Amino acid sequence: MRRELAAAALAVGIPAAAQQAHAQAFPSKPVRIIVPFAPGGSTDIVARLIARGLGEAWRQQVLVENRPGAGGTIGVDHVAKSPPDGHALIFGHVGTFGFGPSLYSKLPYDAVKDFAPIGLFTAVPNMLAVHPSLPARSVKELVALARARPGALNYASAGNGSASHLAVEYFKLLTATDIVAISYRGTGPMLVDMLAGHTVLTITGVPPLAPYVASGRLRAIAVGSTSRLPRYPGLPTVAESGYPEYEVTTWYGLLAPAKTPRETILQINSELSRMLARPDVRDALAQQAAEPMGSTPEAFGAHIQREIVRWARVIKAAGVPIE
Ligand code: MLT
Repeated sequence: MRRELAAAALAVGIPAAAQQAHAQAFPSKPVRIIVPFAPGGSTDIVARLIARGLGEAWRQQVLVENRPGAGGTIGVDHVAKSPPDGHALIFGHVGTFGFGPSLYSKLPYDAVKDFAPIGLFTAVPNMLAVHPSLPARSVKELVALARARPGALNYASAGNGSASHLAVEYFKLLTATDIVAISYRGTGPMLVDMLAGHTVLTITGVPPLAPYVASGRLRAIAVGSTSRLPRYPGLPTVAESGYPEYEVTTWYGLLAPAKTPRETILQINSELSRMLARPDVRDALAQQAAEPMGSTPEAFGAHIQREIVRWARVIKAAGVPIE
């Protein structure tokens, strides 16, 4: 529509400055970034950083709205059906746009066709943490414990199709262990039960786990990235602990509904790139052990399609139940 309007403006000779003003009309009201999980998880923590940066740049309110449920698919669906004008965006991740399409047989949206990718923002490393009551101080000890008592240990995830769900299912596949899934509506509520000892293991982003690992209320035993994290040099990777294929990093990026004007997508993409160059944003990400990423909208779209293919294979091999 806006392209047609711009073409019509050219045809009737509307001055360039007025066309410019039209192109810059976004955002014309508060922008909502939908976080499809409860507050307190990595998605929420990183989305709030972006919302602050975009709000400052646009001098417009950019709000984080939590719409948890069904492994993030409720929030994603909300954005798929929102007006395509850039004012409702989804903060997507490896779960909602990588595993979800293979885990849910009847999604009310198409994760590729119904969205316009804007750009990748960051990659958050995962940590394997256990409740201190569990007598396991290494991946080796954990695997031995789980193998000795198949089906006796449980793990907490942020819902079927969340990053934490597949991170543990992939771990179970490679370690040939049987650990029972307990699902929550996000890492925030999941941690409440885990701190109380009702669940004993999780693999989720470093940001929400870090304070509890520091205070000793949870015990970190490994990281899910391909190399050790500078902030936790003593913590081995799962890969070096005997499972070299293991790697789960939670990537995050912004997407808009499919028919959002191209100029709005590019405008938000440029703002993300500017934010990623800011030392304060890079510092804030580094404090969360997160890595700045950045990409064009096209590269993000290609990344999503590759991830869907990659995870479809893992889901099939692991025999993860399809909803
Ligand atoms: C969250 O924000 O709760 C997590 O990022 C969810 C997840 O594990 O995917």
